[in-house]
Amino acid sequence: MHAGLALRAFKLMAAAPLGGCLVEFGVYKGDGLCMMAHLCRQYLGDPQPLYGFDSFAGMPRSDIPLSSGLGVDWAEGTFADTSVEAVQQRLTAKRIQATLVKGVFGSLLPLREYGIETVRFVHIDADIYEGYRDALHLLTPHVQVGTVLLFDESMPPTDHRRQGIREHGKRAVYEWEQTTGFNLHLIRFHETAVLCVLVDESYLERYARTIVPLKRDTVMDIVVDRVQLTLRERERARLRRIRNFLRGIRRVIRRRSTNAP
Ligand SMILES: C[S@@+](CC[C@H](N)C(=O)[O-])C[C@H]1O[C@@H](n2cnc3c(N)ncnc32)[C@H](O)[C@@H]1O
Repeated sequence: MHAGLALRAFKLMAAAPLGGCLVEFGVYKGDGLCMMAHLCRQYLGDPQPLYGFDSFAGMPRSDIPLSSGLGVDWAEGTFADTSVEAVQQRLTAKRIQATLVKGVFGSLLPLREYGIETVRFVHIDADIYEGYRDALHLLTPHVQVGTVLLFDESMPPTDHRRQGIREHGKRAVYEWEQTTGFNLHLIRFHETAVLCVLVDESYLERYARTIVPLKRDTVMDIVVDRVQLTLRERERARLRRIRNFLRGIRRVIRRRSTNAP
């Protein structure tokens, strides 16, 4: 979960109150839930009902091709080194109360069956298309104007090697907006993660003064962006040097073997 976007989400929720629970689709080891609980205490006061949904058995298969590095990072079975029990233990140790539900999103019951009425905040970090599609489908009856949504993979990345990401979260969110007619107002994005809020005209009229500053860069944002970009450029240059070095060795070996008697 991107910390800067999560912080903005909670600032918005504090300024524009809406009852309901906080939900995460794609929990893995619980980092996102811990951050949500922490921000909740800091910005919303009393603990709010917190839910986490995951297969807790790794990524399901995707029918959308996983191009380039995604084929490794998001392959079926990745993120399987976790369990409901381990996450529950971790949360209990931090005195975080959360309901964890195990299952592939497409086979879950309607969210009402788990005690969910209104969803105030949702973080979707399911990586692949099907996870987003099925999570959004489950959420449809539970979101309303004022629901804040944070999607981890909903913006085409600048990294050319990871362009395939756009076929996943972005596509599912776009289809969801088309079928439901929801008006998702973009607050801010960072790399592939997108923060938005479900709005209508009167919500925007009422909370524009809160939303507009949340769109701006803080000094910290500018510094972090700059550092990340520099590190990425350095890493690319290092990889280029290694690649050229290996090519050189391959050329020498080839030359030697053709010159050999
Ligand atoms: C990148 S990890 C989540 C990381 C987590 N949000 C964090 O902050 O550390 C993606 C998770 O989504 C889960 N997932 C993806 N698609 C799913 C689906 N269709 N049903 C259930 N779980 C799914 C995987 O099991 C995996 O644990």
